Amino acid sequence: MKERIEQLKKEFSEALAAAATEEALEALRVAYLGKKGAITDLMKSLRDVEDKKSAGQWINEFKTLAESEIASAAAALKDAAIKAQIRSAKKFNPTLIAERELGSYHPITLCTKDLEEIFMGMGFTIEDYAEIVGDYECFEALNIPKHHPARDMQDTYYLENGQLLKTHTSAAQNAIMKKYGAPLRAIFPGRCFRNESTDACHENTFFQMEGMMIDENISISNLIYFMKTMLSQVFKRDIKVRLRPGFFPFVEPGFELDINCLICGGEGCPSCKNSGWLELCPCGMIHPNVLRDGGIDTEKYTGFAFGLGLTRLAMMRYGVKDIRDFNSGNLKALSQFKSL
Ligand code: DAH
Repeated sequence: MKERIEQLKKEFSEALAAAATEEALEALRVAYLGKKGAITDLMKSLRDVEDKKSAGQWINEFKTLAESEIASAAAALKDAAIKAQIRSAKKFNPTLIAERELGSYHPITLCTKDLEEIFMGMGFTIEDYAEIVGDYECFEALNIPKHHPARDMQDTYYLENGQLLKTHTSAAQNAIMKKYGAPLRAIFPGRCFRNESTDACHENTFFQMEGMMIDENISISNLIYFMKTMLSQVFKRDIKVRLRPGFFPFVEPGFELDINCLICGGEGCPSCKNSGWLELCPCGMIHPNVLRDGGIDTEKYTGFAFGLGLTRLAMMRYGVKDIRDFNSGNLKALSQFKSL
């Protein structure tokens, strides 16, 4: 009996080494461990053996060995198959991942895209501009000379070479006037920075969208018309607005365009500093000094400009109470927004 078992073990090992596929392994399992398999036959032949106890033990050991070796050979085959698949895969295809898990636009991006659409429909071009600018673009060219108190409101981050992170999108006005001349209709959304302590309605990094329209006979009426059209389209409903005088050195006259706080309905909440109103879009008629610095003939042309607070707009549109949520990186919260 012992010799028979040893002989079968040897044959089993050889057959196992030769089994290169899952099918071959299964055939081997049936041949040894199946109902009519070699090991089962050995069990049956125990009847005619004298030392049943030892023989039974040898057969059981063989059975356990065969089972575990077949199982580990099957696992090794599976592993090799996966590795081969990875090796033979063509180039990394990022769209396969995207198909499984689609990303979403940030609420500020959604607002920007909608506004671009609205202004393109009114004949405006969309411009992009640097985030790092010089003192001239950010202040001097906007009628804010050195030591002007208006600079106190706009402390920012300075580079060692004297350049700075732009505090407002108005910093692109000069370059865009020089690039296109008059007549001009352009909007330029961008990221802005201020050295400020943060709270529910202030961040050191935020987004604005600047707009300019320069042509013959442009007046405050044109400004009001474009602002109203833009706001009614962006909120897709009637919005209460108020226009009050505001001081910005680069416009004369200058206005603050406020909208009724949509979070509290005008009753007062932390998002609107308890006033019920939110400054959304300061604007005004471009100061002649600014036009002149941009190379525009002030005898012939006038224009209006506005600096829409994109981050504020997104807060109002989506009812986000705390500005800091936008930079939170909380994808679960940020991915729930859609275009209106
Ligand atoms: N740049 C100003 C700020 O960030 C906002 C502003 C006011 C822009 C009036 C304008 C404007 O174009 O006409 O505080």
